[in-house]
Amino acid sequence: MIDDVLCRRLVDKARQAQQHAYAPYSKFTVGAALLAGDGTIYTGCNVENSSYGLTICAERNAIFHAVACGCRDFRAIAIAGSSSGYTVPCGACRQVMAEFNIADVIMVRPDDTYTVVPLQKLLPYTFTL
Ligand code: THU
Repeated sequence: MIDDVLCRRLVDKARQAQQHAYAPYSKFTVGAALLAGDGTIYTGCNVENSSYGLTICAERNAIFHAVACGCRDFRAIAIAGSSSGYTVPCGACRQVMAEFNIADVIMVRPDDTYTVVPLQKLLPYTFTL
């Protein structure tokens, strides 16, 4: 399990990334911070489009950002959004997290308190080929 110091760093990075969210339609801003095996942190934010279905979530944006940088080894991801409770990942993002074996999901509340949940608990029956 990931320790508190690392979690706190990821929470802070996710909050910073949330500032870059482009969400003029939903007004729901999200930031994500992804911890790689080598300690690098990759961030992402949600980016909406007037053609709504083209929107990309913050979590997938962070994961695709990392993969595009040549990284495929991950430990944990933090998600901070404008939810009134914990910001939880959508089903599509859970499936993409499973693709890259991201072990722990850190969900953040408005006051920056957080909970760590193993991805296996959030997506017990992952689709695989
Ligand atoms: N969103 C995310 O960024 N992550 C999720 O896991 C769920 C939803 C974004 C997409 C959209 O821009 C906004 O939140 C409202 O659905």
